[in-house]
Amino acid sequence: MNLTLATPTSSAWVENIVTNFDEFLLDHAANERKAAMMAMSLVAHYPDRLELMEAMIDLALEELNHFRQVVRIVNQRGLVLTADEKDPYVNQLRHHFRKGSEHYFLDRLLSAAVIEARGAERFSLVAQAVSDAQLTTFYSTLAKSEEKHHQLFLDQASIYFDTESILDRLDEWLEIEKRIVEQLPIHPRLH
Ligand SMILES: [Fe+2]
Ligand SMILES: [Fe+2]
Repeated sequence: MNLTLATPTSSAWVENIVTNFDEFLLDHAANERKAAMMAMSLVAHYPDRLELMEAMIDLALEELNHFRQVVRIVNQRGLVLTADEKDPYVNQLRHHFRKGSEHYFLDRLLSAAVIEARGAERFSLVAQAVSDAQLTTFYSTLAKSEEKHHQLFLDQASIYFDTESILDRLDEWLEIEKRIVEQLPIHPRLH
């Protein structure tokens, strides 16, 4: 099962990140923390789904490790983390969660897959755009780690749902995400 984002990130986004890198970095840190929390919220919500639980605990540890790495860069640069803010991208995606426990579960997995794919795409763009060697190495390594995450969510979906239902709904999620990404104003944020 493959996932290709329906729209690429614009070069305007990349240029904005490069000129406002510190602001982007603080938002990036928040995103890593939220990714760890999202994985743990699936553990808390579905304690009877053992494969999911094990995969999500591993993911939470990996995302928390990313958070620690970003926080080190934040501290090196003498920046201070900001208070938690709602992420308009994630909020808008959430509006498309369907009711009914199985539909809702599939939507959580597939939206997470799309969010992970977008994150990996953007980290790779950041790696190519930044001029600092330490940052290039960090974002390339991070992109490689994040590139595996969308597959992890698709694999989980395959345990609990048939391929046709997954692919049909995944197509819809890719379209939903495309519409949201194209509408969002360009900020120095991950989304
Ligand atoms: Fe991460
Ligand atoms: Fe991730």
